[in-house]
Amino acid sequence: MDLKSTIRAIPDHPKPGIVFRDLTTLMGEPEAFAQTCEALAAAFSDAGITHVAGIEARGFIFGAAVADRLKVAFVPVRKKGKLPAKTITESYALEYGEDTLEVHEDALPKGAKVLLVDDLLATGGTAAASAKLLRAAGGNVVGAAFVVELVDLPGRAKLSEVGVETFSLLTFE
Ligand code: PRP
Ligand code: ADE
Repeated sequence: MDLKSTIRAIPDHPKPGIVFRDLTTLMGEPEAFAQTCEALAAAFSDAGITHVAGIEARGFIFGAAVADRLKVAFVPVRKKGKLPAKTITESYALEYGEDTLEVHEDALPKGAKVLLVDDLLATGGTAAASAKLLRAAGGNVVGAAFVVELVDLPGRAKLSEVGVETFSLLTFE
């Protein structure tokens, strides 16, 4: 199945000049959603992953499904103020703004091998901040998996700079 054609483009959302890649249309097709989650999990099936970390909000949808397929634990990386126990916090810049992410400080056991999952890689700010948090929580971030990579933006280079291997299923310019 042609997964790329199931993703809708919304021009000028949320700001003029941004082409928003809307994955709700991919999620709305059961075969496309299943194929996507299978492919993300398959890319890391031999990597000894012990935890999948999903980034709020869209990374929860794919991350939880990938964790289930790999039969490993799921760790939520959440926007500020949502996690109830003691957290570690990191602020970061986005393609269209800025935000703050948190992880529970006891979310990972020592030696955890973590796969970061999100729907889309743009500037890499979100994923790099998440990798920093997960490392601060004691995890070894083995890689990061995305459904979509925007290849004209420096996300892959940014993750490479912080020592995270990037896997993406689909690319857009
Ligand atoms: C989007 C997307 C990624 C991030 C990618 O999330 O789901 O998490 O932007 O951008 P970056 O590579 O430039 O950091 P957003 O912050 O819009 O939040 P949402 O998932 O809650 O909609
Ligand atoms: N997150 C950051 N940039 C995005 C884009 N162009 N489309 C969808 N989500 C995004």
